[in-house]
Amino acid sequence: MWVVYLRLIVADDYDDMSRKAASIVAEEVRKNKKLVLGLATGSTPLGLYRELIRMHKEEGLDFSQVKIFNLDEYVGLAPTHDQSYNYFMFHNFFNHINIDKKDVHIPDGKSKDPEAFCRDYERMIDEAGGIGLQILGIGSNGHIAFNEPGSPADSKTRVVTLSAQTIKDNARFFRDQNEVPKKSISMGIGTIMKARMIILLASGKNKADAIAKTLEGPPTVNVPASLLQKHKDAIIIADKEAASKLTGKY
Ligand code: GLP
Repeated sequence: MWVVYLRLIVADDYDDMSRKAASIVAEEVRKNKKLVLGLATGSTPLGLYRELIRMHKEEGLDFSQVKIFNLDEYVGLAPTHDQSYNYFMFHNFFNHINIDKKDVHIPDGKSKDPEAFCRDYERMIDEAGGIGLQILGIGSNGHIAFNEPGSPADSKTRVVTLSAQTIKDNARFFRDQNEVPKKSISMGIGTIMKARMIILLASGKNKADAIAKTLEGPPTVNVPASLLQKHKDAIIIADKEAASKLTGKY
């Protein structure tokens, strides 16, 4: 038997998932104006970002002292490329809130020395005091950030090779599958596990298998998200479809 700390909130639908996540993020930002926030890309957190933008505009939620560290970036894509994660984050979130751009950190897909960049990224996170709250999505194969199945539990920020499944899943954003970069810079599982609090978001039927394995399977590097079972303050917020293959009582 193993001890599972991971908690689950089942949301009615995508909008409910996004609102529930936003209320937790907003509470953390209000408690600590200097929160170090780890952020994710993908279609899943878009509703969360929209809700946080609304809270900023209508309720004055203040991001002026918040620091951001993003999880990952495709190797080879410049920040101006419309499929880069840098472009995604500014376009969908940072351009619409009062974040200080100098406090936004996103791995550099065009770095000339990626290994050195990765070491610096880890150091910058540590110097900022570590990540206070980390937002995650989940890949259909259970990956978190770009930590594909098999990624070591103590891995740090590094260059990783994307799995065939992930390339296929992410091809929908590119003109064709051959344009999807094959590598990325990604925070490691060890980096993510050091965050004081983690929220993993999941929406839709194509995440149901991954969510069932994450919560109800043994913690294994073959399903990277399942390693979150060992984190002391991690919550999954899944909509009904993403939670539809869970068999336990929560
Ligand atoms: C990419 C990202 C992950 C994200 C995943 C799922 O692979 N690196 O951080 O969780 O996509 O994306 P989506 O939310 O679009 O399903």
